[in-house]
Amino acid sequence: MNLTTMRLPFHPAIADAYLRVYEAMSKSGRLGRVLDLCCGSGLHTPFLVRHSESYQGVDLNSKFIEEAKASFLSGPTAQNISFHTMEGITFLKSLEDQSIDTVFVSGGLYYFPNQTTLLNELHRVLKPSGRIYAVETNGSNFLLNTYRRIKNFIHPYRDHQTTNKLLSAADYNETFEKLNFNVSVEPLDSWVPMIALLPARGWLTTILLRLVRYIDSVLLRSEIYSTYFAFKMLIVATVSPTNVHKK
Ligand SMILES: C[S@@+](CC[C@H](N)C(=O)[O-])C[C@H]1O[C@@H](n2cnc3c(N)ncnc32)[C@H](O)[C@@H]1O
Repeated sequence: MNLTTMRLPFHPAIADAYLRVYEAMSKSGRLGRVLDLCCGSGLHTPFLVRHSESYQGVDLNSKFIEEAKASFLSGPTAQNISFHTMEGITFLKSLEDQSIDTVFVSGGLYYFPNQTTLLNELHRVLKPSGRIYAVETNGSNFLLNTYRRIKNFIHPYRDHQTTNKLLSAADYNETFEKLNFNVSVEPLDSWVPMIALLPARGWLTTILLRLVRYIDSVLLRSEIYSTYFAFKMLIVATVSPTNVHKK
């Protein structure tokens, strides 16, 4: 798949970070047996299927899974694709030890109230060379947290369950390391998604995207800036070779 022509159903400024994640993933070779945890209706399925040997998507929302099945369970690669309506940990428990090469999660890790249980299960099902790629929103983003405080003040019932649980880069670093993963957490963007709020379209968007992406990349080199202004983060975790899960 040509990543430069790949389209995600968003404004290019929102899709930008995901396309860069795809680029990073495709550089590290084939993805093998892939699990798309919290797959929703399969936003990332086309990319993952193209680069994998087999693909399993799991989500607890049956409506999303029905949509994904309708979109992807026909066509030449369909025999290597399956979708499951199930809670993530329950699904992981049904998998064999060391049976998965790549776990992809986008906007899903923070839904799991017990990160230790989740990461222990991921550690168990991943092969020794296995890898997790997770794209998550930065829970210590200052602007997002200010917006959430205002929103929760106006609508206290909305989003309490989820948005208050977003984790920071430091949280992910600490938890993954504690549970025997080698982990890197990289900021993906800070101001780039804001371009979607502007009325600019077409070539103007392309120029703005390049400019703001460059500014972002310079600013995000500062750790303090990145802690409080990174918006999305890419977490890449591998099973630590000295601590491979034993039965
Ligand atoms: C923000 S959406 C992301 C969907 C998709 N990964 C994407 O990037 O478009 C989070 C998804 O996680 C699912 N989810 C939340 N908790 C879950 C759990 N414990 N097990 C499985 N899926 C879960 C929700 O149903 C929802 O589809």
